[in-house]
Amino acid sequence: MEEAKENQNDKSTFEAPPQPLSKNAQKKLLKQQRFEAKKAEKKAQMKEQKRKDAERRRKEWDGTLAAASEDERQRLIESRREVRKERMEKRSKERERKIERLTKAKEIGQKIVIDLEFSHLMSSTEIHSLVQQIMYCYAVNGRCTSPGHLWLTGCRGEMEQQLQRLPGFDKWLIEKESQSYIEALQDQKQNLVYLTADSEYVLDDLASEKIYIIGGLVDRNRWKGITMKKAEEQGIQTAKLPIGDYLKMSSSQVLTVNQVIEILIKFLETRDWKASFFQVIPQRKRCESDNEENQGADEGECESNDDQGDTKKHCIEAPSSD
Ligand SMILES: C[S@@+](CC[C@H](N)C(=O)[O-])C[C@H]1O[C@@H](n2cnc3c(N)ncnc32)[C@H](O)[C@@H]1O
Repeated sequence: MEEAKENQNDKSTFEAPPQPLSKNAQKKLLKQQRFEAKKAEKKAQMKEQKRKDAERRRKEWDGTLAAASEDERQRLIESRREVRKERMEKRSKERERKIERLTKAKEIGQKIVIDLEFSHLMSSTEIHSLVQQIMYCYAVNGRCTSPGHLWLTGCRGEMEQQLQRLPGFDKWLIEKESQSYIEALQDQKQNLVYLTADSEYVLDDLASEKIYIIGGLVDRNRWKGITMKKAEEQGIQTAKLPIGDYLKMSSSQVLTVNQVIEILIKFLETRDWKASFFQVIPQRKRCESDNEENQGADEGECESNDDQGDTKKHCIEAPSSD
């Protein structure tokens, strides 16, 4: 009840009525649901396979020990202990380096905000999906050589509850704010840039003094133009990614939160939009001739105008601008 009230209070003037789904979109939605079901089934199969493999390895190990002489057994146990120790030391060094990078990013990293003020417009499943995307972004950012300084603003209600359930969330090196970005960063309003596919301005570079905001929404583009409207009403700048300069897609260029963040992170590392798009936008969303490029993670689906799960987004590479 309390939560419902809180969500109610979250509602802003930026809402527009959700668009009813066309027949085509309904078909795509069904297809997406089938895709999700298959994905879940595959995940369960993989988990079971992993369990079986571990069981098999354990039995093999027991068998090897049973067949070995006492001296040989001691040697095998000792060597296994060494391997494990080395692995743990390597992991702990990696963790230390990651902490160093993220601590530095808090001081000098490019500020990237995920605006979490839309949770009242999403179902629990959609919030869950967004939380998974945020977790993924945090991991990618931590591995990157020049990570961004990530902010979660408007982190309240069910959104916050679901984030709190993530293991280790409390220790994340990230800014967590219950306030909106407009309150938390009020002294830097002139530097706020809302990234939205509906902007007429194309982002050509990332400026270190700017703060780039991404709408924390998984909405299969039900709420078309909502972030653009919000930014306009708040009088802050907007920009869209320069996708059109490097790729031609037959449908919308609305990407998922994790794709946008990953593109920004890759761009911070490479200063190369084309490489960033090709690494992040899944190959199956691009035309077949693109396959010479790296394949990026496919955590979420491109959000098309009709449906998030448009698995046949035809696109061709646009002539290079450089
Ligand atoms: C799934 S989209 C949400 C779409 C939503 N209907 C809207 O109006 O923004 C998640 C967020 O990723 C960012 N985004 C997605 N595609 C983008 C693009 N082509 N250029 C800039 N930002 C983009 C926007 O901040 C957007 O709010």
